[in-house]
Amino acid sequence: MNTLSASHPLSDGRTSTSPLVQALHGFRPDRLPVWFMRQAGRSLPEYRKLREGTSMLDACLDPQLAAEITMQPVRRHGVDAAIFFSDIVIPLKLAGVDVEIVPGRGPVFANPIRTARDVAQLREEHPAERLRQAMTPIRETVQLLIAELESTPLIGFAGAPFTLAAYLVEGGPSRDHLQARSLMHTDPIAWRDLLAWAAELSGVFLEGQAHAGASAVQLFDSWAGSLSVQDYAAHVAASSMHTLEAVRELHYVDPQGDGYSTRSLPLPTVHFAVGADHLLHEFAKLETSAIGIDWRIPLDEASRRLGDTRTLQGNLNPALLFASPEALEFHVREVIDRGRRAPAHILNLGHGVPPETDPAVLTRVVELAHAY
Ligand code: CP3
Repeated sequence: MNTLSASHPLSDGRTSTSPLVQALHGFRPDRLPVWFMRQAGRSLPEYRKLREGTSMLDACLDPQLAAEITMQPVRRHGVDAAIFFSDIVIPLKLAGVDVEIVPGRGPVFANPIRTARDVAQLREEHPAERLRQAMTPIRETVQLLIAELESTPLIGFAGAPFTLAAYLVEGGPSRDHLQARSLMHTDPIAWRDLLAWAAELSGVFLEGQAHAGASAVQLFDSWAGSLSVQDYAAHVAASSMHTLEAVRELHYVDPQGDGYSTRSLPLPTVHFAVGADHLLHEFAKLETSAIGIDWRIPLDEASRRLGDTRTLQGNLNPALLFASPEALEFHVREVIDRGRRAPAHILNLGHGVPPETDPAVLTRVVELAHAY
């Protein structure tokens, strides 16, 4: 077993009793924890101002800037967690892969990965070791953040291998990830090798954030919903497991122990996908502390399907952020009420904050959740 350092915010007690960490361990804290995917970003005028003249990936790799962007929504909205400002392609970039983020589009790769030869070359030229050597800006950003966050936990994250491969094979964003979904059948060995490589990089990225001070980590498999249950189980699940294995062994000594015995608790983990309720049973097998649910099925139904065994995160419909204050309040209450069926609940959106969102509406959601 691998133990987080004594000065880690979970070990020294700063975040171990926070509502987020309590909920991730399956307890119902006094206050319902709430945070938003993409809370740091274009919905905030202070973000747009800071980002002027700096590309997305350069901003992610500048520790002062990335830490400041991460803090902005925490100060403004009073959310119960900070989400590390970075991107799922950062580990690939740090391993030397030629990628950029095109505004309004997403990640674009100079050399799409289509054949067994492409995969072999990728593995040879961009090994995980290269990422390990390049993790310094990530560690520095996390260290700056935990010095400022006090009792608010920092959530680290990585992209799941399938979602990364969906971009790598297509060369950029695509509607249905058809080329990626084909490669797993036309060349299952090359596909397996590609996912194993991506899994290792995402694992190194997660582990680095965890050791540096993240109090939980989330695996984003945003595009897994395009897969059939059979394809997910046969060609994808093992690679997500592989990434999570990088942090599975990480434990901390519970500082709330009774002084006679010590209790060791695992670093909490979250799995998130979109449009993927047909895969819920598969995600459950990954054994994360919590499962993120998008807005398409109610939380009580999701919990029922999981045997009421798992903390759920979600699942406000982002569209309601644009509705009347009354409609939004009704929706927030309904999501919280349905979430009571699960052992514990972390309020979040079903997917990221849309850039057009009025930030005052997000602050209002936090206030409603904390007051209800
Ligand atoms: O609050 C947070 O969640 C911030 C951290 C974060 C970002 N990206 C910042 C970002 C996280 C967790 C991500 C993950 C990510 N990146 C995912 C998985 C989550 C999801 O949304 O499904 C995916 C699929 C990506 C790939 C990606 N990066 C896309 C599709 C885009 C949008 C491109 C655009 O301009 O519309 C990005 C860029 C990106 N990542 C932005 C931010 C704040 C926008 C950059 C900008 O401000 O120009």
